[in-house]
Amino acid sequence: MKTVKKVLFWTLVAFALIQFIPIDRVNKPVDKAANFVEVKKTPEKIRDLIKGACYDCHSNETVYPKYAYLAPISWSVKSHVNEGREHLNFSIWGTYNQELKENMLSKAIQTVQNKTMPMPGYIVYHKEANLSDAERTLMVQYFEEMLKSKSY
Ligand code: HEC
Repeated sequence: MKTVKKVLFWTLVAFALIQFIPIDRVNKPVDKAANFVEVKKTPEKIRDLIKGACYDCHSNETVYPKYAYLAPISWSVKSHVNEGREHLNFSIWGTYNQELKENMLSKAIQTVQNKTMPMPGYIVYHKEANLSDAERTLMVQYFEEMLKSKSY
C-alpha cells in the first residue's frame, strides 16, 4: 500500500510539474494577400467549411480548445498543429509554387473523400468539423474545380 501511495504521489507531482513546460500557442500574423480563402475569394459557405474544419491545424489562425492547456494533451495538440501546418498552411497559400498548390489540392480532395481529414480524433470535440457527406462533396467539388481550371 505504501508503494502505491508513493507512486500516486510522485505521479501527481510529475503531472503538476509538466504543466509548467511552456508551449508556444501564439499565432503568427496572417497576411491577407497570401491567405487561401482571401486570395481565392472562396464563397462564404465553403469558406466556413474550410475554416471550421481545417484552419485549426492548417493555418496561422489556430483556436486552441480548453484541453489544449492541459499537459500532456497540450503536447499532442501542438504537435498536430505543427505537423498540419508543415504539410499544408492555408495562411501562406500565396507563397506556394504551382506544383505544391496542385499537389495540396489533390491531397486535400483525397483526404476529405476518404475521411482521414479532418482528423477523426478532432471531430469528436469539434462539431463544426464533423462534415456531412454533402459538405464533404461541396468542399471536394470546390477543390476539383480549382484544379481543373488551374486557377490555384
Ligand atoms: C486536428 C488537426 C487537423 C485538422 C483539423 C485537419 N488536419 Fe489535415 N493534417 C493534420 C496533420 C497532423 C497532418 C500531417 C500528418 C498526416 O498526414 O496525417 C495533416 C495532413 C494533411 C494533408 C497532407 C497529406 C499529405 O499526404 O501530405 C492534407 C492535404 C490535409 N491534411 C488536409 C486537410 C483538410 C482539407 C482539412 C479540413 C477538411 C484538414 N486537413 C483538417 C492535421 C489536421
